[in-house]
Amino acid sequence: MKFDQPAGTNPIDQLKVVGKAVDRIDGPLKTTGTAPYAYERHDVAPDQAYGYVVGSAIAKGSITRMDTADAKRAPGVVTVLTTLDVAKPLPNGPQNTATLFGGAAIQHYHQAIAIVVAETFEQARSAAALIRTEYTRTPGKYDLAKEEPHAPLKGGSSGEGSSAPPIDRVGDFAGAFAAAPVKVDQTYTTPDETHAMMEPHASIAAWSGDRLTVWTSNQMIAWSKRDLAKALSIPPEKLRVDSPFIGGGFGGKLFIRADVVLAALGAKAARRPVKVALSRPMMANNTTHRPATIQRVRLGANRDGRLTAIAHSSTSGNLPDGKPETAVSQTKLFYAAPNRETYLKLAVLDLPEGNAMRAPGEAPGLMVLEMAMDELAEALRMDPVELRVINDTQVDPEKPNHPFSERHYVECLRTGAERFGWSQRNPKPAQVRDGKWLVGMGVAGGFRNNQLTKSAARIRLERDGRLTVETDMTDIGTGTYTILAQTAAEMMGVRVQDVNVRLGDSDFPVSAGSGGQWGANNSTAGLYAACLKLREAIAQRLGFASPEVAFADGKVTAGSRSATLKDAAQAGPITGEDGFDPTDMGKRWQQSTFAAHFVEVGVNIYTGETRVRRMLAVCDAGRILNPKSARSQVIGAMTMGVGGALMEELAVDKRFGLFINHDLATYEVPVHADIPHQDVIFLDHPDDKSSPMKAKGVGELGLCGVGAAIANAIYNATGVRVRDYPITLDKHLEKLPQVA
Ligand code: MOS
Repeated sequence: MKFDQPAGTNPIDQLKVVGKAVDRIDGPLKTTGTAPYAYERHDVAPDQAYGYVVGSAIAKGSITRMDTADAKRAPGVVTVLTTLDVAKPLPNGPQNTATLFGGAAIQHYHQAIAIVVAETFEQARSAAALIRTEYTRTPGKYDLAKEEPHAPLKGGSSGEGSSAPPIDRVGDFAGAFAAAPVKVDQTYTTPDETHAMMEPHASIAAWSGDRLTVWTSNQMIAWSKRDLAKALSIPPEKLRVDSPFIGGGFGGKLFIRADVVLAALGAKAARRPVKVALSRPMMANNTTHRPATIQRVRLGANRDGRLTAIAHSSTSGNLPDGKPETAVSQTKLFYAAPNRETYLKLAVLDLPEGNAMRAPGEAPGLMVLEMAMDELAEALRMDPVELRVINDTQVDPEKPNHPFSERHYVECLRTGAERFGWSQRNPKPAQVRDGKWLVGMGVAGGFRNNQLTKSAARIRLERDGRLTVETDMTDIGTGTYTILAQTAAEMMGVRVQDVNVRLGDSDFPVSAGSGGQWGANNSTAGLYAACLKLREAIAQRLGFASPEVAFADGKVTAGSRSATLKDAAQAGPITGEDGFDPTDMGKRWQQSTFAAHFVEVGVNIYTGETRVRRMLAVCDAGRILNPKSARSQVIGAMTMGVGGALMEELAVDKRFGLFINHDLATYEVPVHADIPHQDVIFLDHPDDKSSPMKAKGVGELGLCGVGAAIANAIYNATGVRVRDYPITLDKHLEKLPQVA
């Protein structure tokens, strides 16, 4: 289905099922432990052996020798395969930078260098410890701050929709900034972060002749099929990738990693199915992470608060040929100002690969831009909500002829201020006490683009009148199963429980996949297109020629004629298959989503510890397909934002080049006790430019801006501005107001 003009009224607008807070249809499987995750798929192939991955003990250099004799002799060992057994690095697809396996060269700490396959996990692990590896170590670069001053300009894309050219100029930034009566010029930092999803990277691989099946945990089935086929040098049609349930990804599972490659190679060498999970301590250094940034923001404004000049630059690091963290991309679009300058710099670092993590670019970019806006509001003695309101724009500030499809950022701010009780905030910092707590409120804006992309699906009316949906779309904990069932139910006039949704199999039609908050809108639009085809086929089967065929209450009606869906399928199942093709609709309008985040914190005056007291997000993200699953996405993202603001940080060992806190004991993320009252409001503005669903992405929007709202609340509480995330107590304790 070509989508080349704004959607008119269509069956989705009935909102009988879509738009309702339907419980997750996969909920019972999740809560009873019966959703089949990759590592537990004992039933898919007989005689599975266990693979254990060995990681490099150096960050840069090469392997000179590996002695596997003892490991091979160890009890239960089936086979040992080392990186030296594969002459050169396996070829990467476009999503990967670091070598996944093969050759003697070491690019980063915990690069996979061997797999031991054994009868049990314990035997594989214990044999792996017997491999002796000799290395030649070469010096590496591990310190972003040291590389930043001479890092070259480099544009790029996050791989998830954010992008920025190396340098982007509109008007005369330098002149306008010099002339501005009120200005902010500050430098901020954000740390390296790891996805820390619950389910580790895990795969089972089984060969049948030259055909390979992998049961894995992956967000993007088609990308991964393409890239795994390339890595293994097999034709894609000989490969099946299956990933029906995923225990979180956050961008860490957008592409293949060492687990699936080594399961496939291990299974080939062992001549039997092999399962591999990366151990938790391998994940931070073997896979990818969100790169640290050093960002500078310069804002110049007139005394009335109108921005005249905006500049934002960001430096991140990555392996050679890696991507920059696109932390300035939102700054190109968020606020009006005639004079603008944004640029990215990229330093070469020999740390593990930097890549997409939830809202890559915008998450760290907004942590900084929205703190700078708070600093500007203070310099102007202006309310930070009002500052954002008067600098709103309804067009792309760099391209005034390019309007936003829908933009209700001001309504987010106003609605949130009202609901949160913003008028109670004391604009003077460090004035409000509640016992031992200094109390403050903060606000920040959220922004994330809405990506349109092709997505296909198949829907079949079965003989019993039930419907089966098949697409390679994934559910990474987001509620995909449920919104697809709702879409089919709405289109075909049945109940949600009459729809069986099957996902994550590369034998199914190719979908948008889960990434960049593009999954919900595009995948439901693809199913919408397939449903239109099925409606036609059913009407034809029934001989209902009338253009006005209605599908409701399990029946098909045309004029005075009516039949049940079961009747229609009496002669056999009927299938509809099609895809959503957004043509250039995503380019004709700037399609974005908006939020306002409000946070109240308490900072312990004796210890400096910050506790979040309450949070509110107001989101403008088109039609909300399911307010319950969307709310879960947003409160989860707000929780992740608390982690980013207050605790998450991969600590870099700058001597040996690794992330030292590579487990959940030392890489801190929020737990339930850290999270207080959370509120989410969705504005109801369907976007007819986004798809026939009129929906947009929301899963990453929820994270965008949260960290700055917390930082701004801390400043309001304490009067101490901390510009280096995370805002741990040591960074402001000495400067807190005197208690006595
Ligand atoms: Mo993307 S970082 O997988 O949501």
